Amino acid sequence: KRTAILISGRGSNMTAILEAARAEDYPADIALVLANNADAKGLETAAREGIATAVVDHRPFKGDREAFDAEIQSVLEANDIELVVLAGFMRILTPGFVEKWHDRMLNIHPSLLPSFKGLHTHQRAIDTGCRLAGCTVHFVRADMDSGPIITQAAVPVLDDDDEDSLAARILVMEHKVYPRALALVAADRTRVDGMRVIIKED
Ligand code: GRF
Repeated sequence: KRTAILISGRGSNMTAILEAARAEDYPADIALVLANNADAKGLETAAREGIATAVVDHRPFKGDREAFDAEIQSVLEANDIELVVLAGFMRILTPGFVEKWHDRMLNIHPSLLPSFKGLHTHQRAIDTGCRLAGCTVHFVRADMDSGPIITQAAVPVLDDDDEDSLAARILVMEHKVYPRALALVAADRTRVDGMRVIIKED
């Protein structure tokens, strides 16, 4: 399936997916990396890998989210994209755009959802006294960080953790689970039943 990865910055999850996608039998073809910011580090990595890149800068749209999303949509359509992967994409998408990609757009969030939606997830997990933290890959719905969960991974929260050490431990898991979750979706092995995602046998 022709897949676009949307990024805003570093793009380490994007890189993990690109690495997985090198395998002959990987079911997603990463056809485009799109950033809302020309400085996004991940763009260089993608270009180096020979992947087509695009920038849709949100700033000229001056808060007109509908127009920004319409521009993204037209770039996705021009590239015949079938699946969208949000990987550290820091813009909130409009309900209309999200609806167009119903069950065809994935996001990764660095918490065990439904705990800690939004920002500063690692610090909040520490401050709450959680013994486990982790990450979640889910289908995107209009409400931020909600939507049917495809996969999660948990790591321990250690007594001497700070936000950075916990984030680093979780990031290792992000890089493992995101390529796998995308493969399941791209191979049509997921079926969404309400809030549940049923994984079909290989
Ligand atoms: C990751 O922690 C992801 O879960 C969060 O933003 C971060 C993006 O990192 N949504 P990267 O750009 O993939 O390196």
